Amino acid sequence: MSRRFPIKATANPAKLAESITFPTSKKTARNRIMKAALTERVATWNPEDPLNNGIPTQELCNMYEKYSHGGYGMLISGNTCIDPIHLETAGNVIIHESIDSPQRRAAFKQYAAAFKADPKNLAIVQLNSGGRQTPLAYCEHPIAPSDIQLTDARGGIACGKPRALETDEIKPLIIDNFVYAAKYVYEAGFDGVQIHVAHGFLLAQFLSERINNRTDRYGGSLENRARIVLEIYEAIREIIPAETGFIIGLKVTSADFDSGDVKVDDALWLCKEFERIGYDFIEFGGGANEVIEGEIRAASTIKRDAFYLEVAKQLRSSLDKIILYFTGGFRTVHGMVSAVESGLCDGVGIGGPTASEFDLPAKILSGQVQSAIFNPWNQDYGLRKYACNTQMWQAQQTPYDPNVDINAGLLDVSDEAAAEKYKKALLVYFAKISEANKKSLPVHGVFEYQDI
Ligand SMILES: Cc1cc2nc3c(=O)[nH]c(=O)nc-3n(C[C@H](O)[C@H](O)[C@H](O)COP(=O)(O)O)c2cc1C
Repeated sequence: MSRRFPIKATANPAKLAESITFPTSKKTARNRIMKAALTERVATWNPEDPLNNGIPTQELCNMYEKYSHGGYGMLISGNTCIDPIHLETAGNVIIHESIDSPQRRAAFKQYAAAFKADPKNLAIVQLNSGGRQTPLAYCEHPIAPSDIQLTDARGGIACGKPRALETDEIKPLIIDNFVYAAKYVYEAGFDGVQIHVAHGFLLAQFLSERINNRTDRYGGSLENRARIVLEIYEAIREIIPAETGFIIGLKVTSADFDSGDVKVDDALWLCKEFERIGYDFIEFGGGANEVIEGEIRAASTIKRDAFYLEVAKQLRSSLDKIILYFTGGFRTVHGMVSAVESGLCDGVGIGGPTASEFDLPAKILSGQVQSAIFNPWNQDYGLRKYACNTQMWQAQQTPYDPNVDINAGLLDVSDEAAAEKYKKALLVYFAKISEANKKSLPVHGVFEYQDI
């Protein structure tokens, strides 16, 4: 049996079982637990056949069907690119007019159906564009708010010098693509989209005072820097009005605010603007919502979390109706219930732990468990991320079967020997992809590991 994170105290999960109704779309999530976005990296990818890149596969559907039966209120996909070039990585799902086809549309319908295998789930696609964080492997000069290059390569992945968007390119190259993608997923059967304004990707670059040095109406004041995020909302709503029930939310992180870019008051002002325009929810991340006893945390982590909590504490009282989800570090029912009961947030997002156990919410809500499966790399984001992607891949290898344990075949990272063995094998994979990264070659897929 898997080991679980230690708990400070037990908690009654009843609060988490309450439903949440979104203010604009009026759609309801059946409970307060959301699966946060986790990049999948396994959609189709063939540099020789770019028209067919980024199509969801049967394997991806297998995985989301498992998530769908896991008891979540809302499921959010991994970041999905709004054009075929400005990727986070090869294997991202892609939506763009230039690569549309009946085959892609059919795959998206199947993809949506997998999310909605249990129709009580809300199914959301996260939409993203890499901007200056687009790896060199996919684009030499990505489009971004400014031409300021990312110098600290993303985990050894080099990114090219960006080209600043012309003012009259912002609508056709960015806003229209977000609208097209939103309409695409709406027609496929999803309940909504989440606009990715976090983790230093394109829209976070616009918000940043440090990265956005534009002098037109999309740069300068905070109001100008936020304009694109508001215009994307309005443009989507023009095509998919609120009466359709289509949800539009977004994700922001304190980490993007903390680098001297946006101060606490600015963050609060921004979120009020997101509320005013009509966004249904804000997922706020970038820090840990609970600290596991006995864990050693780096000084930088402690500082980051302090800033996160400072903003988090003031958010709810600054906002009237928009739904607030907090994501990051939730590992125990006590931590999740405390966050909601304290009135700080309406719902909780869970990322990494969802891949160790696809039915974690069902187990939490039925009172079967008081914490997630223990992960020895909880404080090591890199290792945790690789293991998580491996577990997602493992889940993809078999279809959902109600007669089979939903978590069959998953690496149990709480098992010390299994975790050590995995880590050793991962080092060999690392060496291989580091070579590819050094040469700026695309890396498709994840570490496909099965302990046999
Ligand atoms: C494997 C992995 C992939 C992720 N991919 C995305 C992504 O595509 N988009 C996104 O907004 N966040 C992504 N994240 C961040 C998570 O959504 C979440 O904010 C973060 O992991 C903190 O939550 P947790 O402590 O519950 O894992 C990813 C995290 C992991 C571990």
